[in-house]
Amino acid sequence: MNSIPTSGAGESDVTITVCPDGPLLVRGAARILDTEGNPIGGDRATVALCRCGRTSIAPFCDSSHKKRRRRT
Ligand code: FES
Repeated sequence: MNSIPTSGAGESDVTITVCPDGPLLVRGAARILDTEGNPIGGDRATVALCRCGRTSIAPFCDSSHKKRRRRT
């Protein structure tokens, strides 16, 4: 029987917070890897991951999600 550990030694305390109309805030000892498995983002305790697609520093949020689109 397979089981998924829910607590105990070695479990990392990582939380992911979904910001309305904004990034995913990842707090804790998460490792962010590129597609080749290389770590990116350094050792920051909190990182904001873009989910709007407008950032110029992907995969991280640069606050571009706050810019409103102009109506033409
Ligand atoms: S969520 Fe902030 S730039 Fe995309």
